[in-house]
Amino acid sequence: MKYTVGIDKMSFYTTNYVIDMSELARGRDMDVNKCKTGIGQEKMSIISPYEDVITMACEAANDILSEEDIPDIEMVLFATESGFDFSKSSGIYLHKLLHLKPNCRVLEIKQACYAATGALQMACDFVRSNNNKKCLVVSSDIAWYGFKTSGEITQGCGAVAMLVTSNPRICKVSQGHVFVNNVNDFYRPSYSHEPIVNGKLSIKTYLDILNKTMQKQKFSYFCFHMPFATMSDKANKTLGDNQISQEHLEIAKQFGKYVGNIYNGSLYLSLLSVLINEPKDLSKQDIGMFSYGSGSIGEFFSVTISESYKEILQSDVIKHRIERRKEISFEEYESMLSTFVERESSSNFMLESSLTPKYCKFILEKIENGHRYYKKSNEN
Ligand code: HMG
Repeated sequence: MKYTVGIDKMSFYTTNYVIDMSELARGRDMDVNKCKTGIGQEKMSIISPYEDVITMACEAANDILSEEDIPDIEMVLFATESGFDFSKSSGIYLHKLLHLKPNCRVLEIKQACYAATGALQMACDFVRSNNNKKCLVVSSDIAWYGFKTSGEITQGCGAVAMLVTSNPRICKVSQGHVFVNNVNDFYRPSYSHEPIVNGKLSIKTYLDILNKTMQKQKFSYFCFHMPFATMSDKANKTLGDNQISQEHLEIAKQFGKYVGNIYNGSLYLSLLSVLINEPKDLSKQDIGMFSYGSGSIGEFFSVTISESYKEILQSDVIKHRIERRKEISFEEYESMLSTFVERESSSNFMLESSLTPKYCKFILEKIENGHRYYKKSNEN
């Protein structure tokens, strides 16, 4: 029997705190137009002290998993470049918190912002050869560049979860065209919490690899890996005669402009932005996708939208997550990210009781002697 493979269910999570770029510009005494016009960003999500890559991934995955899915999930691929352990996979924590079954392969996949695409393609291959089985792909990242760095205006955090199955109800995933090249545009060695970045080289390498992988194919919609919104404009121009309309590009950028860079998930946040914010029916349409991960690797592929995508996507949940966030001041932003850095450098950390976790089911309760303890609450 002929069957197709791709994304059957999909969700997105971001934290409850956000800083407006005008507030960041005020704090840094910077022209706000550099942020809002130059890089095209409106806001960026900020990680709270009681959340990390595990809790964000669990929130996104918890939205989409049903009791019937659990017995069929035989692989979990956790794509991140913000992991806190060089040995144990972040997926092991998620596997336990989501009560997945024990005979399940669990791996953390890393290649900068490309890992989620590599994981998605590997998940599709797995389902092609095991068509009754399912693979859970999650991407979860905290884009932290450090205070007063040029990358500070391109931060953010969030997670995307995708359930990969046969006969998918959101979209079919095509095999892609890949190009890899060893470049030192952006990397984070083990001695550093912040990446080492050559911003201009990273933009040039991104566009070079897009040029090398792109196919002469016209799409009505295109989603790009989007570290900041005007990177999508630069990428679209690279498509030349095949570039999409500015109206469609704005729809593809809409969610990312308000969330910031979520590294691995940012391409998939753009796909969600199109699927949720385009009022016209996209069933049976092909959408072009370009994934880029510094270091560097790129892949050009496409997805074909299924007829049932609108019924399957929890559009209101995703939109509400972006709208409900609490705006924080520049001073609160510095304090929250300082806490994040302190937490990630500590073998012991206790959540301060004055901060009440809001809207989250999964919480990082404490770090004790290096062990991380999480709890799931049913109240929020
Ligand atoms: P910068 O070099 O300080 O900024 O940092 P700039 O001076 O180049 O300005 C940025 C844009 O704003 C320019 O426009 C300016 O003209 C404009 P462009 O030339 O690009 O069209 N501008 C203004 N516009 C209006 N009013 C003003 C004003 N001032 C300037 N007053 C940079 C920018 C993105 C390099 C920096 O933030 C950075 O290093 N970010 C991190 C790296 C990055 O995001 N690279 C993108 C490609 S690599 C990638 O996507 C992979 C990644 O996600 C990591 C991974 O794979 O894991 C990053």
